[in-house]
Order: sequence, then structure tokens, then C-alpha cells
Amino acid sequence: MSELGGPRPVSRDVWFGGDYNPEQWSRTVLDEDDDLMRRARVNTATVGVFSWSSLEPNPGKYSFGWLDEALDRLHANGVRVVLATPTASPPPWFTRLHAEAMPVRADGVRLSHGSRDTYNPAAPAYREAARRITRVLAERYGSHPAVVLWHLHNEYGTVSHGPVTDVAFRQWLQQRYGTLADLNRTWNTAFWSQGYSSWDDVLALPATQYLPNPSQVLDFKRFSADLLRDCLAEQVRIVRELSPDVPTTTNFMLPTWNHYDQWAMADEIDVVSIDHYLDDEGPAGEVHVAFASDLARSFAGGRPWLLMEQSTSLVYDYDDGRMLVKAPGRIRRNTYQYLSRGAFGSLFFQWRAPLTGAEFFHSAMVPHAGADSRIFRELAALGQELAGLAEIVAPPVDGRVNDARVAIVWSGDAWWAAETPAMPSADVAFLPAVRAFHTALWRLGHTVDFVSPDADLSAHDVVLVPSLLPVSDEQSRRFADFVAAGGTLLVGAFSGSTDEHLRVRTGGYGGAFAGVLGVHVEEHVPLRSGTVLTLSDGSRAGDWSEVVHLRGADVVASYTDDAHPVIAPGSPAVTVNRHGRGAAHYFSTRFDEAGLSAHLARILEGAGAAPENPWAADGVEAVRRRSGASTHLFVINHSDQPRRVAAVGFELVTGTTVDGHLLVDAGDVRVVREDPAAGAGTP
Ligand code: GLA
Repeated sequence: MSELGGPRPVSRDVWFGGDYNPEQWSRTVLDEDDDLMRRARVNTATVGVFSWSSLEPNPGKYSFGWLDEALDRLHANGVRVVLATPTASPPPWFTRLHAEAMPVRADGVRLSHGSRDTYNPAAPAYREAARRITRVLAERYGSHPAVVLWHLHNEYGTVSHGPVTDVAFRQWLQQRYGTLADLNRTWNTAFWSQGYSSWDDVLALPATQYLPNPSQVLDFKRFSADLLRDCLAEQVRIVRELSPDVPTTTNFMLPTWNHYDQWAMADEIDVVSIDHYLDDEGPAGEVHVAFASDLARSFAGGRPWLLMEQSTSLVYDYDDGRMLVKAPGRIRRNTYQYLSRGAFGSLFFQWRAPLTGAEFFHSAMVPHAGADSRIFRELAALGQELAGLAEIVAPPVDGRVNDARVAIVWSGDAWWAAETPAMPSADVAFLPAVRAFHTALWRLGHTVDFVSPDADLSAHDVVLVPSLLPVSDEQSRRFADFVAAGGTLLVGAFSGSTDEHLRVRTGGYGGAFAGVLGVHVEEHVPLRSGTVLTLSDGSRAGDWSEVVHLRGADVVASYTDDAHPVIAPGSPAVTVNRHGRGAAHYFSTRFDEAGLSAHLARILEGAGAAPENPWAADGVEAVRRRSGASTHLFVINHSDQPRRVAAVGFELVTGTTVDGHLLVDAGDVRVVREDPAAGAGTP
């Protein structure tokens, strides 16, 4: 039975290691790997992620020798294996045999092999080949003692258009709508003469001359997401049948990929795992780590999860056309951030930097410079340190890893909807709105969960909705019930303006929330980018504003005379409505950082939610993790000054008792076992 078997992940120690590609290296290098893995206390290797052509060089002709040997060798060395199915990269022979299974871009260009992810998830030949290689691997390695986790595929995310997808899309639509009449009505195809008289005319979103139909765009994204879920589900079924003791995962690329609905994908697997790469080599990168970790923990239902990939240093910043370097000490601080927020391991892409190949200048645990390097020394020191901290990843006896009273609503549908064309402003985008809220809360010292709009909202005291354009009647009712029962709800501008089909709710924008918010939004007033508004309370906002009338709510802050001429100075900008036993707040504009922070602090204080980390303003991240029957206080000093925090217990990194105050050097990390019952004051 795998150590992760059963309903809850149980890890014996902090998983530490990375993607390992023994098929690329000579015997001499493999021998050195054994030695270096021991030095760095590597205990986990992810094997086989893109190895299809090495495993099956010709159709149906397998070559398992290298993998047999690798698994045996790793096992003998005490390294557990996360074994991947290689389905993210079919070999060249697959293209030769199944040209129709290649992905087609929206402009009709059919792609070919030569990179990775060249397959159409809707193509029967691809699906059949993926099932077959999964079955072959599960049969052969499903009970190998080294294998502790199935890593199914890699970063699902392929989207394809073209004739093969058209067929699958039509089937999906037929199931959803039943009749063409229903589809025509829901998509309002009378607009621009798009009325369909035959299912064969419905296309999987090819490039169009001008704006496409937004409801079609949203449905295509939902369809593509369901397709990827089906691909995952069929691999899960196969390995559960042939390898029932080994749990399953697939690595989500967070937080920038939205090709599927993470809530739905998480339902299919046993262990949530994520890949995470910093978006900023400056201080903002730390908030990004917390953001990805809070998402991962939430997708895992509050339970432990696995960091499948982070980088040791250089990684592409695709927007800027260059690679970013991690400063000394950052790998360690980031790793403790992930661990504090629920990760039971920290793996890296990749163990050894390749000599050539598409990502040849990407960083690794063993860089091109070899083991005599800053990066390897940092990694080895970290591995040795983590080897002494097994207790921090013990699964909590009473459920959730972190306590959070505040939740932010995260929805694939809302993200896709906000990205459909013809929105009134680029500033209604989903991800920036959600990140702004999370960042403000991180800076205020609040630990935050994410929830689906379909989740049980009652697990949190405060639910924040930064951006949620499509809202169904059922969801609308559940938000109102949450407030009536005593919850605090905050809704961001533009949310709830359509139903789930992206059909505008008439009679005032934000219709899905209008009742609970006690407001009537008569007009949207997008602003030119860079416009700054000063509200009556001095807070600054911009980008977006609205003509709001009160229908029972009270005004918290109003627009002033710098508002757009259609908004009368003094009219409501920020409101609060008592509803049942709770309160519903509305922001009809987008605040700058200070404004958002001030308003969120006010609302959370009003809801009685005190920040868990009172040292946040000093650049200290303090997060409490439940482990076994104990709690561990992680104190991560991101600042360039030593910082003092209040703590009582036993500090694990230095092995010292803490009886009131803990001094943490600039850039350093401490972990305090707090639970007196577990012997807080003793090693
Ligand atoms: C992803 C992939 C890896 C690698 C890294 C590079 O996360 O899973 O194979 O390409 O990105 O940063």
C-alpha cells in the first residue's frame, strides 16, 4: 500500500526532489546522480513525464529496460517514484499514423510533432493511444515498490479546433441543449444571422472575421475543459483498476492556466498537485507563491497537496523574452511558504539540466555548472534541513491544514466569461481582480481560502466575490442565503450581470446580487485606463464606475465631482446592506492598492475576522499549519531586517525552545511547534 493510500494523504516525510530523466544520460552521470541525490537528501523523483518515444519507439514495440532499471535503482537508494504517463507528448510515429489527431489552431493550421502537446484531445486515435500506454504502464509498474503516486499526463491544457473537434463539440452541445432551437435561443443566434438549421453547421470556434458569439465562446471553453476532464478520468479509471493501491494526481499549472475547471479536475484525482513558477523576481513574487498555494489547498478541499514543480532559478518570462534568476535564499523561503500553506513536498523541475533540447537553459537542481555551484549547495542544504522536519507534513487529525475565515470565490466559468470578446472594458478581467483581492489580504495578514460558487459557503464567515460575471439563479439564491444566515458577502463591480449562459439579466446590472446588495445599477461607466477617482472617504479608485441607486443599502463612500458626467456627485460608490443576520457589501468601482486594502480591512474588522499574521506589514509571513495533533507556526522573514515575533513552543530549524519571542534574521525562516500537548517545549 502506498504511503498516500486511503482517503487522506499520509506522508512520512517532506517530499523533496524533482523531475528525473535517466533516459537522457550515460551510466557515469547516473552514478553521479545517485551520489548527489544522497547529498541533497532527495527522497522523491518524478519519472517518465515526456518519455513516450523512449518507452514505445515504434508502435506497439516497447523498450522498458531503462525504466525498469531506473525504478529499481531509485528504490534501492530510498527514493520514491512519482510515475508519469507520457501522454502529453506522443512520438513522431503517432503523427505519421494519425495525422487527423494533430491539434488544429483556430486559423485552421494543423500542427505537427517537434515540440510537445501535439495531439487533439478530441481525436479518437489519440485517446485510444493514451489509454493503451497508460494501461501498459499500469500493468507493468502498478505494484512496483518504488511507485507511490501516479502522475497522469502533464499539465492538461491542449485546446484544438478543426473538423475532429467540430464533431465532438456538436455532441457536447446536443447533450447540453437537446435541440437546435434551444441552442439558437440560448446563444441568441438571430444576432448577425447565425441561426443554425443543421447541427453540421455548428463549428468548434474557428477564427472569425470579427467578434464571435460570446455564448458560443463560453460553451467552447466549457466543452474543451470537459474534454480534458474526460482524458484525465479515463486514465484514472485504468490505473485504479490495475494499480489500486497507488493514488493518482495530475499537475495543475497555476495560476495562469485556465484551460479547465480545477474544481472539476480535482474531483477526479486523489492528490492535488501543482506546478508553480514565480511571475516576479522582486518581492511581489512572494505573494504569488501564497496565491498558488492557497488555490492548491482549496482545490484539495483544505487537505495537504503536493508542489510538483518549482524552479531552482532561471525560468522563462515569456512576456519579456528573457529568463529570471532567483536570488540566494529564495528557494528556501518559497519552499517554506508552500509547506506552511499545506504542501507535503517540494519538487522541482528538474533534477539535472539537459545538454540540449527545448528547455536547455532552464534551471535545475544540478545546474550545467555541476554540484560545485551556488544552486546545488542551496538545494543540498535545504534537503538536509527538511529531512529533519518530517513532523510538519503529518496530516492534520481534524481536517483542514490551515484555518481561514475568509474565502475568495474562484470560478473557471467566470474567468472564461470575462475573456469572451466585447466586454465593456478590459478592466473587468477575472484574474487581475482576484489577485488584487488576494494580495491585499496577504498584506493585511489574512490567510485565505478559495471556494467555488457552487460550494458550501457556510464554512467561512466572509465570502469575497471580486469578479463573477455569470451567476445562475441557484447560485444567486445560495449567496443570499449565506448572508441571511449571518455571513458577510462582498461583491465586486460587474459581477452577476448575466446568467450562466452569458445572457444579460435585465432590470439593472448585477441582477443576480441586486436583492441581497440592496442596490439598483442603472448604467455601467467604464473609464479610460489611468483615470483616477477620489471617493468621498478619500480612497482612490479608477478604471470602472457605475450609476448606482439605493434599494435599501446604506452608502459607505460616494462618487465626487471627479466622476464621469453621467454620475452625479454624491451618488453611491460603495454600499452595505443588512440582509437577515448578515451584511452584503458592494464595490461599484475598482480601488487602487491602498483603497482596496482600507476597504477590505474595514469589512473584515466589521465581520470580526482578525488577521492571523500581525507582522505582515513588516514583511514577515507567519502562517499556522495543522500537522497531526499539533500546530506549527511558520515564520518567514521576507524583509531585509531582523524581525521579532511572539511565539511559544519548540523551534525546529535551530532546535531551541521559544518562550515568548522569536528573533528571525533577514531572509530567514523558523518553524515553531506550538501544541503543548505534543510537548511544545521539548525536542
Ligand atoms: C512546466 C512543465 C515542465 C517544464 C516547466 C518549465 O511546468 O511541466 O515540463 O516545461 O514548465 O518551466
